[in-house]
Amino acid sequence: MSFLTNLFRKKSINDAISTAQQEEIHGSGGLEKNLGVRDLTSLGIAAIIGAGIFSTIGSASYNGGPAVVLLFVFTAVACGFAAFAYAEFASLLPVSGSAYTYSYVAFGELIAWIIGWALVMEYAVGNITVAVSWSGYFTSLCESAGWHIPSWATTDYVSARNGFESAAALLKGGANMSDLSQSQLENYSAWNSAPNLGGLRMILDIPAIIMSILITALVYIGIKESKNAGNAMVLLKLLVVLAVIVVGVGYVNVDNWHPFVPNGFGGVMAGVSSVFFAYIGFDALSTTAEECKNPQRDLPRAMVYAIVICTVLYILIALVLTGIVSYKDLNVNDPLAFVFEKINLKWFSGIIAVSAVVAMAGVFLVFQLGQPRIWMTMSRDGLLPKRFSYIHPKYRTPTFATIITGFFVVVPMLFIPSDTVLDLCSMGTLFAFVLVCGGVLKMQVTPNAPRGKFRTPYINAKFIYPLMLVAGAAYMFTQQKEAAMAWLTNEREMYGVEDLLHQVNDAQVADIQTFLARQDSAGFAGAGNVVAAYLEGLDGDKYAQVVNSLPVSDEIKYESGWHLFKHKIPMWLFVLTCLALAFLTVKHNLSLIPILGLVSCFYMMAQIPAKSWAGFFIWLVAGLAIYFGYGFKNSKLARRG
Ligand code: ALA
Repeated sequence: MSFLTNLFRKKSINDAISTAQQEEIHGSGGLEKNLGVRDLTSLGIAAIIGAGIFSTIGSASYNGGPAVVLLFVFTAVACGFAAFAYAEFASLLPVSGSAYTYSYVAFGELIAWIIGWALVMEYAVGNITVAVSWSGYFTSLCESAGWHIPSWATTDYVSARNGFESAAALLKGGANMSDLSQSQLENYSAWNSAPNLGGLRMILDIPAIIMSILITALVYIGIKESKNAGNAMVLLKLLVVLAVIVVGVGYVNVDNWHPFVPNGFGGVMAGVSSVFFAYIGFDALSTTAEECKNPQRDLPRAMVYAIVICTVLYILIALVLTGIVSYKDLNVNDPLAFVFEKINLKWFSGIIAVSAVVAMAGVFLVFQLGQPRIWMTMSRDGLLPKRFSYIHPKYRTPTFATIITGFFVVVPMLFIPSDTVLDLCSMGTLFAFVLVCGGVLKMQVTPNAPRGKFRTPYINAKFIYPLMLVAGAAYMFTQQKEAAMAWLTNEREMYGVEDLLHQVNDAQVADIQTFLARQDSAGFAGAGNVVAAYLEGLDGDKYAQVVNSLPVSDEIKYESGWHLFKHKIPMWLFVLTCLALAFLTVKHNLSLIPILGLVSCFYMMAQIPAKSWAGFFIWLVAGLAIYFGYGFKNSKLARRG
């Protein structure tokens, strides 16, 4: 076989199923098929509701304002499309390994490896977000019990340094401490108060680290109930979420919903990772296919039901949160508890915090179980060393893989800021969704491809999809002409207040102050003679006019050239993929639903900052190095020859 054929060598469906069956024979002797649609929906909700709605919704609402609800709807629709693709594969291959196993069959080994590697982002890296969010609630719970944990012990090094720098930029512009957001204040104080160890500031999220180690230990010794822990908690989670909605509705002040879209479309889309994160988990249902009474009928239904139920709850929660307080106050780690504390319902805030701590620990546990099992499957295929599938004789768990998972959670937690981690997790998961939708399309055009019992309803996209693209382009070039042209021609863009102030030195700040006091003395005095506050108070056109007139160079005012273009690379990739897909659709009469799943998930990926794309890319390259250094030679398929 040539090198290239080897790269794309595929597992046959029978292979995939028989590997699973062999494991069952040597293992527990076959799984019981007792899950119906109701159990599956409940499992789905258990996996979905977690840190997303308890925590990351805070920053999404802060960026997008009340309009974040639109993002919840869009994300739900995208996940719904992807759910069909997952269900289709799950009915074809009712075995463990999820997207990894599916792509082994559809695309071959190389892509399967890449997916398996990307799934580390979903599970292990996703768990960093869960742990950090958990710590946010835990810390505020301790706070209300009168036990203060210093801020340097509740954040990571880089977040503290970034928060300190952005606070310093604003303070340099004349802002007062009271003008800083809560997270800036916390990071500022973390940086300043951290103990110094041999020249290095000791800044680490101690509660998150301890919780991660304890739960990893629990997963290691394999308590029987751990697999069902998420399920058992579903009731608790639903009750808290419903209670927040029911109690909160009475405190909504509709004035807080104006303006509905305070930071424009960009502000809403800035929450993409957080909102998508809140939906991650329904895909994990596909791993239960072996235990379903009727997977082809029940799995797709349960995924869609779980997504619909969570969407309704999420929209209501977002409306209640942004209705009780201004969206500007929501940039906190524990928004659900925070708003009720703010309106002096301390007892209720306490109940939410306790439930959130329990519920998120449950999500952590489920993810912490998932990751070693994916590595175990990959190791059985020969793509990872045997040790990853080593099952401890006493505990009956993949102990080595579990310990490595623990490291993958705890070590990056020390260095990587939680928002970057969140982006990486959403990237990895969306990437898997895109490939699973692509896999369904690939199976559609492969002659004699085996098909499962569940098929995504087929709608020929030959005309509809290209028409949608044309309509989208027509809208952009008529209604949003200026923005579209500026984007295409990479026209320079003005920096926001923080980035602008970040670049100026003290002498320049003094010049700006003198200048503003002369130009707009009343307005500037109204902002307490604070440059940052004055600039932040200006609306779009006025802001541009004032910044243009400031006595500093254009480089400080505008981002341009490569620096600007690199942020657009993900969106260019998206546009090119859409066009390539249009060509393939016309050629092969592709099916509409997986196309929409692929396109909408790719679109969400394109909204994730280029910096996180770069991080993800480095991750994939590291993965490829491992594959070529190990898996390529040791794969079972290679050995079979
Ligand atoms: N959807 C899961 C959560 O929000 C990952 O925690």
